[in-house]
Amino acid sequence: MTKKLHIKTYGCQMNVYDSDRMAELLAPLGYGLTDTPEGADLVILNTCHIREKAAEKVYSDLGRIRPHKAAKEKQGERMIVAVAGCVAQAEGAEIVNRAPMVDMVFGPQTYHRLPEMVAKAARAAGQPVLDTGFPVEDKFDRLPEARPGTGAVTAFLTVQEGCDKFCTFCVVPYTRGAEFSRPVARILAEARHLAANGVREVTLLGQNVNAYHGEGPDGREWGLGRLIRAVAEVEGIDRIRYTTSHPRDVDQELINAHRDIPALMPYLHLPVQSGSDRVLEAMNRKHTADDYRRIVDRLRDARPDLALTSDFIVGFPGESDMDFAETIRLVTDIGYAGSFSFKYSERPGTPAAAMGQQVDARVKSERLSSLQQLLESQQAAFNAATRGTILPVLFEKRGRRDRQIVGRSPYLQPVHVDLPPDQAAGLDAHIGQIVDCRITEAAGHSLFAEIECSGQPRPLAVDPDERISA
Ligand code: SAH
Ligand code: SF4
Ligand code: F3S
Repeated sequence: MTKKLHIKTYGCQMNVYDSDRMAELLAPLGYGLTDTPEGADLVILNTCHIREKAAEKVYSDLGRIRPHKAAKEKQGERMIVAVAGCVAQAEGAEIVNRAPMVDMVFGPQTYHRLPEMVAKAARAAGQPVLDTGFPVEDKFDRLPEARPGTGAVTAFLTVQEGCDKFCTFCVVPYTRGAEFSRPVARILAEARHLAANGVREVTLLGQNVNAYHGEGPDGREWGLGRLIRAVAEVEGIDRIRYTTSHPRDVDQELINAHRDIPALMPYLHLPVQSGSDRVLEAMNRKHTADDYRRIVDRLRDARPDLALTSDFIVGFPGESDMDFAETIRLVTDIGYAGSFSFKYSERPGTPAAAMGQQVDARVKSERLSSLQQLLESQQAAFNAATRGTILPVLFEKRGRRDRQIVGRSPYLQPVHVDLPPDQAAGLDAHIGQIVDCRITEAAGHSLFAEIECSGQPRPLAVDPDERISA
């Protein structure tokens, strides 16, 4: 009999990757995924600790799961509830104190031991299983080969994990641990496996992906630029992206990769956080706003159509109106295709939480809304500028409307195409194809397009009938 597994994922793409690996680890034990906690035998919340709101959400979700657990017990069955990910790593046993219904707590570096943990929790009801160490064994060596979802066209591939940067506001170095880069050969094997299953686009993931320094097949350390070159040679992988980068680790090799490798998409998420040198220093970012401007100039020289996005924090301790004005000036100078911006959130145990001069909540809100207004208008302008152009779109799935398919432009914009009625029968055949599309409309965060008549679907690298079924 199959058991039901429900996983809820919070936070960043790395958590998405990890949740998929957890599902794969549990499949041989008879667990099949279900999209609701109701009636599930095992519920895993794969959590995020980055801001207070994200962390608190876990407890309110646990409250919602409790009645389902009780209902299951009434039927004489058990629901194992696990808290995984970065909140688990940061709070450990405290989670069980606050929410005694939790049976398992494990961090991002121990989930390869999940089968053992589940067996233990199943044996001993009422005795929570905790595992938040940073084990010496290589988690990646113990994980099964990544298995893309059936029909998945895009996939994440973790190449690097952890962070040694210690920005003063950030919990990641504590929750994910020290930087670790996977060897090139392992990454290429995973990329080949994904391609053989129909994946055409991979996003290389790392908390600091461009700090990548994995062992190459030649025994030397390879940087991210070199790794991207090798991934671009994997047959069937036509598009490559990477995230998240740190400005300090953008080297010439990576810039050259943007110049030379057509498969490397002209899109870069390069968080800057603030435009004020004073604030950047207090954040321990170890670069100035002008350093960032120069890096962007070099990247744009290499790849003039590069679309840039960033993360911003407003209201960092001590941020003055003048500091904030510097952020606005930087955003105006760069011109972003999109961005994420957040109010500074005090995180326990980080140096910034102990700094004086915490910024008033009302001031934070005002700054956030004026920054977001500017970023929104830049994004709208960027999207509007693609109207009338022809862009290659990788179609990923059916859209909400009948006859609609949705894909992504090279700049990661969602592109919607409504097929004419006479072509609707071929809708699914477009999925996994890169097709030239004429952009007809830019609305909100999405583009609308028509398939360009001269644009024949580019052939799929792998015959769909020969996709390896996992
Ligand atoms: N490794 C990435 C970012 C990881 S966290 C980098 O170096 O940029 C994602 C984003 O969350 C950060 O870029 C930052 O903008 C935001 N963030 C992190 N800690 C935060 C905090 N304490 N309060 C508000 N935003 C925060
Ligand atoms: Fe956090 Fe800074 Fe590391 Fe990014 S570089 S994960 S913001 S400590
Ligand atoms: Fe959140 Fe952990 Fe990712 S704190 S952003 S899930 S690394």
